[in-house]
Amino acid sequence: MRICVAGEGAPDRWATRPAMSLGEVDSTQIEARRLADGGAPEGTVVRAEHQTRGRGRLGREWIDERGSALLISIILRPAGEVVRLPQLSLVAGVGVAEGLTEASGLPVTVAWPNDLLIRGLKVAGILAESFPGPGGAGTVVILGIGINVNQTRFAGHLEERATSLAREAGRPFDRERLLAVVLERLESWYRRWAAEGFEPVREAWRRGSATLGQRVAIGQGVEGIAEDLAEDGALLVRTEAGALVRRVATGPAP
Ligand code: BTN
Repeated sequence: MRICVAGEGAPDRWATRPAMSLGEVDSTQIEARRLADGGAPEGTVVRAEHQTRGRGRLGREWIDERGSALLISIILRPAGEVVRLPQLSLVAGVGVAEGLTEASGLPVTVAWPNDLLIRGLKVAGILAESFPGPGGAGTVVILGIGINVNQTRFAGHLEERATSLAREAGRPFDRERLLAVVLERLESWYRRWAAEGFEPVREAWRRGSATLGQRVAIGQGVEGIAEDLAEDGALLVRTEAGALVRRVATGPAP
């Protein structure tokens, strides 16, 4: 294990704190959970060069090419009602999209619930897993973010669905700088959400959304047109039968 500084800037921001930087790990989510159980503070970042059991939403695998991606998990200890926690995936989506756009100049959009897209192809994914805090007090959220940075080829069916910043821009990116910008934007949006509530996030998400107005499948056999994002962060989908169905973003930890 090597301890390093993830970025530079204002003191006591996530981007300037020492990150746990690992060569290879099963999943940064597991390592971050272990640190959180041991009392690590909010904003602690775990990153890895390669994961052997990277996980995505709904029990899917998250596959990376060693040394090409940004694979990070961040410990959060949000205050307030548990009911607001599903909004965190959307807060993260807005923050990471803004950071990637700022650092790369590429137009990154957000797709409900947790994808970041360029030209409709997935460039990054977000996984928010929540657990009861120590002694059952409060909630710990491990926010996992996988960003395809310098990978230029993808295996099998991913070739048509995924992309990377390097593939889109035709040049490699400095992952340290990207990480610093993404953490900075993410933390800003997280603090804004904590202070002002969901409405500013909702507005930003609607502006940068690749989902609204599109046909979507939201599980349990429900399909329809994504009509809006509700005030609490649920996606509102209009089915062909005319019903308006709500769907909330995240599920519980595995
Ligand atoms: C998804 O799109 O389904 C979410 C993917 C999240 C992947 C990241 S990579 C870093 C962190 N560690 C993991 O095992 N998963 C998340």
